Amino acid sequence: MFIKSLHLKNWLSHEDTAIALEALTIFRGENGSGKSSVEQALQMLFTARSESTADNGNGSRDLIRRGEDKASITAEILERDDAVHPIKMRCSITEKSGRAVQIKKESDPAWTGTDYLAYLALNRDVLDCLINGRRFIGLKDDAQKSLLAAVILPTRVVFDDWVEKAVNDCGLVLDWSKKAFDLIEEGYKNAYSERTAINRLIKEWREPDPVPVQEQDAQAIRARLADRQAVRTALAVERQKQIDASQQKGRQRADLGEKVSALEVKLAKEQSRRAEVAHGLLSKAKLKDAQDALKCADTAKSLDADLQRIAGELSAVERTYAAFDKLGDAGACPTCTQPITEAGFAAIVGPVIAQRDALLVEQRKTLEARKILGDYEGSNKTLSAHHAAEKGVKLVDLHIAEVEKEIDECKKELDASIEDPATEPDTQEFDVKIAELDTRIETGNQALTAAVTAEANRQHYQAAMEGKKKLDAKQALLEKLVEYFGPKGIQAKLLDEHFGGFEGRMNKVLEVWGFQAHLQFEPYSFGISFAGKSEIFSLKTISASQRWRFAVAFQVSLAKVTGINFLVVDAADILLDAHRSKLYGALMEAKLDQAIVLQSDIRTAIPNAKGCAFFMLTLDDSGEVPTTRVNRL
Ligand SMILES: Nc1ncnc2c1ncn2[C@@H]1O[C@H](COP(=O)(O)OP(=O)(O)O)[C@@H](O)[C@H]1O
Ligand SMILES: [Mg+2]
Repeated sequence: MFIKSLHLKNWLSHEDTAIALEALTIFRGENGSGKSSVEQALQMLFTARSESTADNGNGSRDLIRRGEDKASITAEILERDDAVHPIKMRCSITEKSGRAVQIKKESDPAWTGTDYLAYLALNRDVLDCLINGRRFIGLKDDAQKSLLAAVILPTRVVFDDWVEKAVNDCGLVLDWSKKAFDLIEEGYKNAYSERTAINRLIKEWREPDPVPVQEQDAQAIRARLADRQAVRTALAVERQKQIDASQQKGRQRADLGEKVSALEVKLAKEQSRRAEVAHGLLSKAKLKDAQDALKCADTAKSLDADLQRIAGELSAVERTYAAFDKLGDAGACPTCTQPITEAGFAAIVGPVIAQRDALLVEQRKTLEARKILGDYEGSNKTLSAHHAAEKGVKLVDLHIAEVEKEIDECKKELDASIEDPATEPDTQEFDVKIAELDTRIETGNQALTAAVTAEANRQHYQAAMEGKKKLDAKQALLEKLVEYFGPKGIQAKLLDEHFGGFEGRMNKVLEVWGFQAHLQFEPYSFGISFAGKSEIFSLKTISASQRWRFAVAFQVSLAKVTGINFLVVDAADILLDAHRSKLYGALMEAKLDQAIVLQSDIRTAIPNAKGCAFFMLTLDDSGEVPTTRVNRL
């Protein structure tokens, strides 16, 4: 960091100080001329607080020049990564709202400077120390230690090759993105607590009973059992087949028997039906009569017609006779009224009577002839019934024949099956073999259970022993990690390495005065020894000028190690001239970007040195408010 220019407006005794600075800028002046005000201005600009304000900047309004209501500190800053385009920082302090920092780059209007402000904020404590070296010495050991660890330790450490694997193997979870110092601390904490847990597990661990080696292994037993089971299944299947075949025959025979019985019942029914139907058949004699009667049917029909005619003629004759009879009773002719004689009467009636007698004879003869011919219509009906019965009988006979045939066939089949009876299957041989196999399978199963249990026990035993081995290995690994992350491990190594460098840098500055710094981290101590003497003095007990030089040497180391490469040294007048010129030499040697030295000194003569600027500050007391006047020498 290089401050190219500085402008203090109404800042303490500085009414309007605008100066350009060099790599080594030295402010001279009397006591109270406004030198420390420059230091305070820089502190306010970079850390937003100063020696005389609270940590949060409260009280900054007291730093406004008396009689004014606002002040400002403006600086153009060049950073190493851009040594061409200055950053413009301006801190405004007002009565009302306190202090506020603005930041911009004229070369890049889009630049917001948030990164730069964050960088300054992150390095606030470091900047404090770089602007005022006494500040570090005033810190407590713990605060010194953590400030040093934060800046001196590398942010990234390459751990030993085995470490990451060991951390993973032990199941520790570390945030590898953390800063080295935090990471080591986390590693130590995690490894330590895990080791405690493992130690407890090991303490509680008990060896299980060892398991003797089994003669037969489960795999072989299983294979043998499977073979036996297969044989047994085949036997059982064959046995069942035989039983089934025998049962089938028996069932068939029973079915046939049942069928025959059913058919016989059917036959009986048919037969009784036949008897019923046969009832309608005529006897031979009756059949002949009926057939004969039917043969004379025409004759009988003509005789019946004759009988009818005769009956008609007879009734006509009867009527005639009756009329004549009436006439005979009257005794006279109704027409001629002549009396009718007996002979006359006999002569009239005689033919009628003869006709009637003849008709009666004919009727008798015809009736006799007809009687012989019988009832042909009845015979016709009787014959029809007979024929119907005959048909029925024939049909029933057909059925009967069918049923009889079926019965016959069934009986034949039945006889055949009786002749070839279902032999009771001989399963005994199978039963014996199966029983034997069952026994062997049972034995095999017992052996298998034993073998499986033994194997499980053996596995459990092996797992337990392996678990123990793993525990032991993990314990050993954790032991290693605890040591590695512990105070005497990588941390001590790193601190030694890096502190060594830090200390070396300090000593380069201190050696010009014959001093030596001694920095140690565990346990923490930071002291100084003097030319040729081994005794190390605490910083509290040495002289103010010795402490002052220690502080400057510390600032140089801090400026280098943080890469800020900038420092402010106040009260350099504490040194005698000779010592002071050694200081300048050491500062030049350190190749910082910039060093600003303030010293009470009123000499106006300056050495002819390149890159140096000397300013003389004087306090003008003539006005109401004292004003610092600044002249470049
Ligand atoms: N608010 C202020 N307004 C103006 N001058 C002030 C104010 N506060 C202090 N001063 C003056 O500023 C000067 C302090 O200067 P300082 O930087 O400490 O001097 P030195 O050169 O000794 O380091 C004193 O002369 C003091 O009177
Ligand atoms: Mg001073």
